[in-house]
Amino acid sequence: MSYKLRSALAAIALLGWLAVAHAVSFEVKDGNSTCIKAELTANFTITYPITNGTKTVVVPLPASAVVGSGSSCGDTPELLASFGDGHSLGLVFSKDSRLYQVANLSMRYNLSDNTTFPESSFKGVVTSITNTSGISAQLNTTYRCLSFTSIHLADSKVTITFSDVRMEAYMPSANLSTNESVCTADLPATTVAPTQSPTTTPAPTPASNPERGSYNVTNINGTVCLLARMGLQLNVTYFSKSKNKTVQGIVNLQPSRMAFSGSCEPTTAVLMLTDDLTNISFTFSLNSTTSKYHLSALNMSASWPDMTAPVTMANSSLNYLQGSLGRSYMCRSEQILPVVNAFSLNTFSLQVQPFGVSGNQFGSAEECQMDRDNMLIPIIVGAALAGLVLIVLIAYLIGRKRSHAGYQTI
Ligand SMILES: *[C@@H]1O[C@H](CO)[C@@H](O)[C@H](O)[C@H]1NC(C)=O
Ligand SMILES: *[C@@H]1O[C@H](CO)[C@@H](O)[C@H](O)[C@H]1NC(C)=O
Ligand SMILES: *[C@@H]1O[C@H](CO)[C@@H](O)[C@H](O)[C@H]1NC(C)=O
Ligand SMILES: *[C@@H]1O[C@H](CO)[C@@H](O)[C@H](O)[C@H]1NC(C)=O
Ligand SMILES: *[C@@H]1O[C@H](CO)[C@@H](O)[C@H](O)[C@H]1NC(C)=O
Ligand SMILES: *[C@@H]1O[C@H](CO)[C@@H](O)[C@H](O)[C@H]1NC(C)=O
Ligand SMILES: *[C@@H]1O[C@H](CO)[C@@H](O)[C@H](O)[C@H]1NC(C)=O
Ligand SMILES: *[C@@H]1O[C@H](CO)[C@@H](O)[C@H](O)[C@H]1NC(C)=O
Ligand SMILES: *[C@@H]1O[C@H](CO)[C@@H](O)[C@H](O)[C@H]1NC(C)=O
Ligand SMILES: *[C@@H]1O[C@H](CO)[C@@H](O)[C@H](O)[C@H]1NC(C)=O
Repeated sequence: MSYKLRSALAAIALLGWLAVAHAVSFEVKDGNSTCIKAELTANFTITYPITNGTKTVVVPLPASAVVGSGSSCGDTPELLASFGDGHSLGLVFSKDSRLYQVANLSMRYNLSDNTTFPESSFKGVVTSITNTSGISAQLNTTYRCLSFTSIHLADSKVTITFSDVRMEAYMPSANLSTNESVCTADLPATTVAPTQSPTTTPAPTPASNPERGSYNVTNINGTVCLLARMGLQLNVTYFSKSKNKTVQGIVNLQPSRMAFSGSCEPTTAVLMLTDDLTNISFTFSLNSTTSKYHLSALNMSASWPDMTAPVTMANSSLNYLQGSLGRSYMCRSEQILPVVNAFSLNTFSLQVQPFGVSGNQFGSAEECQMDRDNMLIPIIVGAALAGLVLIVLIAYLIGRKRSHAGYQTI
């Protein structure tokens, strides 16, 4: 075998491994007969109470998850995927003459587990459930959904995000059926990147501005220690599966889909934003000698459906968004923050305060140079108009005085 061919095969094997690296497999059996088989990747976004507030974490379904003892076959077969200190994902199936579906989708999590749920003010096991999972397939077919799909559980404390899913219940044999029921998200028409389709040609249609989101971080005391309001747009260069070439993906983050969390320390503050497809974290540093802060690091990871593999980009020697302790930094104009060659972050209507927040409110704002420059134009126009009005007024007054004088002499 030639070296080239061997390297090519190795690369293909590596790609294959990357593609399935996170999927976890489960099989529920009754004696020798298999009733459920599932291969899936899942992330759980869980919001839980801390003293005076809430915190949100993203917990992946680990490869160490096993088929728990609550699993069973029968009329309504059940898969209980157990992991960690008493956590589990539960799927209960039901069927009619044509279709089977996930009738109940549930998440049980143990808030006593300090490692997964730091600072939780509630200790004990919590269960969230929904009976509208939207997961259904024809009998004797495998349900396939490679795209990311998020399902909110009833109390809205838990969002489950599935991807790379292949599963079947009421199996006619021990192997997944070769016929597949494909979820709508996987259908070709919708397998494009989140907002607008990326393109290499220089911006034919400019992306719309992103919606502005409000985010905050609370410390152990429950007091808000970091405040941020901003619209965020990612500009990521990646290799597109659908186009078979490198493209520029312009993606607006949707505030309503972002979970946020973070931490505050005396000279470092971190804000983390997470949705199904993207993680981004902002690290701010405070120089206690000068009492100035700045954005010192940005980390971003994305696993968009059109990417061949997830990407991670980071730079921890940045110096953006500089402000003074106790005051906020504001920039209404669009700012382009280059992070690395393949990634820049565009911010819109931004106001942040990473340190010295008091009373849950922004301190007085320090505006960016661009806003101050933009303010100059209205000031100049205003001054010019005022000058013009003054000249007209003076001319009028002089004219009036003259004609007045004329009358008197008659
Ligand atoms: C399971 O299969 C094995 C061999 O394939 C067989 O010996 C055994 O009796 C089976 N058990 C049941 C409960 O069917
Ligand atoms: C919950 O977590 C705590 C602490 O990790 C552990 O002691 C306890 O056994 C767990 N509960 C369950 C039901 O697994
Ligand atoms: C699903 O859950 C509901 C309420 O939690 C329960 O009434 C129903 O029987 C469950 N369905 C199945 C198929 O287990
Ligand atoms: C599914 O397959 C089983 C066994 O092969 C068969 O008995 C059943 O009729 C099939 N059901 C449907 C809806 O095709
Ligand atoms: C908690 O609050 C107290 C009093 O307001 C303050 O002295 C202390 O520094 C705070 N701790 C943290 C971690 O912010
Ligand atoms: C919780 O917040 C309130 C007001 O926001 C504050 O008065 C109280 O001291 C806080 N409690 C704790 C335990 O931090
Ligand atoms: C995205 O980045 C590329 C390269 O850095 C740049 O040419 C392009 O103008 C950027 N597009 C937007 C919308 O920011
Ligand atoms: C992708 O492009 C390369 C070279 O441009 C070509 O050799 C390859 O066949 C293409 N693959 C697909 C799936 O179109
Ligand atoms: C703080 O700023 C001063 C003056 O710019 C600089 O000399 C010093 O190294 C900075 N300290 C840190 C910890 O960055
Ligand atoms: C990180 O950012 C700094 C400052 O903007 C820049 O000089 C440096 O090249 C960046 N590093 C990488 C790896 O792009």
